[in-house]
Amino acid sequence: MGILQYLFEADDDIRGSKARAIFVGMFVAFGGILFGYDTGTISGVLTMDYVKQTFTSTGGFTASETSLITSILSAGTFVGAISAPLASDTLGRRYGLFISCIIFCVGVILQTAATTQTLLIVGRVIAGLGVGVLSSIVPLYQSEAAPKWIRGAVVSCYQWAITLGLLLASCVNEGTQRRNDSGSYRIPIALQLLWAIILFVGMAFLPDTPRFYVKKGKHEAARASLSKLRGLRPDDKYIEEELEEIIANYEYERSFGDTSILDCFKPANHQLKRIMTGIAIQGLQQLTGINFIFYYGVQFFKTSGISNPFIIQLIMNIVNVVFTVPGIALVEIAGRRNLLLWGAIGMCVSEFLVAIIGTAIPDSHAANKTLIAFSCTFIASFAATWGPLAWVVVGEIYPLRVRGKSVAICAGSNWLFNFVIAFITPYLVDEDRANLRSKVFFIWGGCTFLCIIFVYFFVYETKGLTLEEIDELYDTVNDARKSRGFVPTNRYLNLAPIPVEKESSNENNSLEPGVDKATVEFVEKV
Ligand code: BGC
Repeated sequence: MGILQYLFEADDDIRGSKARAIFVGMFVAFGGILFGYDTGTISGVLTMDYVKQTFTSTGGFTASETSLITSILSAGTFVGAISAPLASDTLGRRYGLFISCIIFCVGVILQTAATTQTLLIVGRVIAGLGVGVLSSIVPLYQSEAAPKWIRGAVVSCYQWAITLGLLLASCVNEGTQRRNDSGSYRIPIALQLLWAIILFVGMAFLPDTPRFYVKKGKHEAARASLSKLRGLRPDDKYIEEELEEIIANYEYERSFGDTSILDCFKPANHQLKRIMTGIAIQGLQQLTGINFIFYYGVQFFKTSGISNPFIIQLIMNIVNVVFTVPGIALVEIAGRRNLLLWGAIGMCVSEFLVAIIGTAIPDSHAANKTLIAFSCTFIASFAATWGPLAWVVVGEIYPLRVRGKSVAICAGSNWLFNFVIAFITPYLVDEDRANLRSKVFFIWGGCTFLCIIFVYFFVYETKGLTLEEIDELYDTVNDARKSRGFVPTNRYLNLAPIPVEKESSNENNSLEPGVDKATVEFVEKV
């Protein structure tokens, strides 16, 4: 605990139980295992001999079959991600997660039962819908539930879970790939049910986020949730202050009127700038080419003449998991801008080196070793920076009234680019098609160069600020490059301090209040 406190202590106002903040954040991050495992399992499954015999008539998948089966999940996730607010903004973030687990399980059962490509594809689309909903809601829940001193690290744990899921998938595939029965693909696919069940059961014990309750006008439920999440009494002065800030900020936002999806793209509150930042950061995260390694790495290393591509893929997965850990610690120390800049530079240099060396001296032993080494530095740079931070940034830069919808649009951008890359890559690297081999890294390196420029001009530094202070940051600082010097004044509170009702002694009673009188008075003032 001492080390964690030392690492994450951003200022002197850490309030409430640190252990609880860490535990809740890490538990919800478990959703990342589903995400990572599901995306990671297919590349290995498609290379299994038993699968090739069962699902194809020629004993091997064509480039277009590989492309369709791999990318179709991302098509489902895209639809799931952008539809998530239908559940998360109405029933709640928590119920949204329950629904995502149920949809996911249906998709997994269909894939497990499949013996034809059609059922496999249908199952993947449905599982994808579930993963998409989940990918929009987990960072939203985490950002809204975590205290500011650890918010970035908590959301980064989601990314860590994604990497663990990818690693688990490649280990399980490695364990079953030589089986000559349906267990070869059924075991790795069916195992995913376990992740969904753990998440479902665990979420039953957690409250919805205080900010969701405030959005619904249920202030006492928000207080109860804050008290549970912070491990403080409901009438503690810190709970009182945090709740006041959330309500004041939301009521200020609400004075602009009701919201629709179009509001995510309106210039008011600099929302247009914020949504474009989120869409770009998620799209660029995919354009770094990271999933080229995770979806098609085995094939790429094989065509580059590397003798044991499965082991190399395993090493890449381990690098991904291990290097996410410094990212979790650094996000609250170095800040968002620095990490994203360093990461983009590291990735860009590594990718150009892979491209240049692979093109200049192909197929030599020395070249292969260098190729593997720089693929590792590329993944390490991604894992410690853009992997977690793309999710951290989209979870925290939106105002409450459009937060659910905006995070969903950004997650949708991630999946859309994911889909396009998964779809076109087989054509780029297939020996009978473009056969780009290492040259494909010129494309990823070029895109990563854009990441550097994007961060420098558009990413605001939000380390150590509450979500409400981030609103003020965007309202008052026009240039991302100057965002580091921002000092919050909590002006929404100063505008109209709102006395919130005290927790009554009857707990049931405390969960269903309406909008309180002071709030109404405040809206009138605004
Ligand atoms: C990305 C995934 C990727 C994973 C790799 C995530 O943040 O969104 O597409 O496979 O990182 O660790």
